Amino acid sequence: MEIAPIKAQLEGVFACAEEKLHRLVDTHPGRFPIYTTGGKWDFSGEAWTNWCEGFLGGQLWLLHLHTGSPFWRAQAEHYSRLIEPRKADTSVHDLGFLFWPTWKRWYDLTGDESLRAVVIQAGQTMGLRFREKGGYLRSFLAEDSLFIDIMMNVGILIYAAQQTGDRALEEKGLRHCLTTRKYLVRGDGSTAHEGIFDLATGEFLRQSTQQGWRADSSWARGLAWALYGFGTVFGLTGDARFLETAEACARFYIENTPAGGVPPNDWDEPSPALPCESSAAAIAAGGLLNLARLTAGRAESSLYRETALHTLATLSGPAFLAANEPGWEGILKHGIYHQRKGLGVDESVMWGDYFFLEACYQVLHGT
Ligand code: GLY
Repeated sequence: MEIAPIKAQLEGVFACAEEKLHRLVDTHPGRFPIYTTGGKWDFSGEAWTNWCEGFLGGQLWLLHLHTGSPFWRAQAEHYSRLIEPRKADTSVHDLGFLFWPTWKRWYDLTGDESLRAVVIQAGQTMGLRFREKGGYLRSFLAEDSLFIDIMMNVGILIYAAQQTGDRALEEKGLRHCLTTRKYLVRGDGSTAHEGIFDLATGEFLRQSTQQGWRADSSWARGLAWALYGFGTVFGLTGDARFLETAEACARFYIENTPAGGVPPNDWDEPSPALPCESSAAAIAAGGLLNLARLTAGRAESSLYRETALHTLATLSGPAFLAANEPGWEGILKHGIYHQRKGLGVDESVMWGDYFFLEACYQVLHGT
């Protein structure tokens, strides 16, 4: 698929994002929603965990980079500064989600050392989650819990280690990736959401799930986190084992997702109440574009890129993009946060909007 036929549609995503984000920062200045309820950003619903505060700043940076507008630059800097204290937050496993879309992007744009220092501290804080017994970064939920999601956050730890020459910290990151690969990625490339370990011995006990259907099923967003995360870690380390895992996840994703490119919340759930989890599709599109670059020159590369472009064509069409719907405050419709808890089901979700915009940016700007 050529970019030309969908270029106008992807430009339309940015136009839609400008409108929706203008309204959000005007109406709720300094606030960080996670999901909508009935299409309105919901500030009173349960958060479950505080992991989304980098996605608003991340979208504002993308708007600035796309449009060159000083207004979006000022907003991006403002919303990035608001989360700076989180660089020392040991209560969540999500410091990559907070600081990669914001401070890392800001540093890459300016080369300002004081910005790099914030990114490094966030990565070092992630290192404090490492459990020697078991060899993993523990989830926010419990000491004995490893989440597949952490594959999207271990990159900032590895980056911090590489920037500071801290071999011990890098080793923790690599061990986390190998543990995740061994226990949460299955032979067919599907993934479990969570792994549970024996705290006394570090022995792996079982697979589990929080947001998927069952312990032995495949939660689509978790697999998308793995696809993108293992690819990112390969990009940082050059370790071919991680590329192999990212590609196994990509194969599973491509083989099991309907033609339009949008999976359900969990591929194994019989008769799911909702057919789509759009945020998983947006993350997978970004991860596949990244994988296409990492495998450039191989036959698979064009399959990854084609799949990503088809997915973005679907997501930027009227069924998913909330353009021309002034009553809907998010950008991308039909996402799911936490189906079991009934949070953000068939709604817009902050990370869905962010990764959608990021994937469109990758296509439009060839990054
Ligand atoms: N990291 C939490 C989620 O993907 O919902």
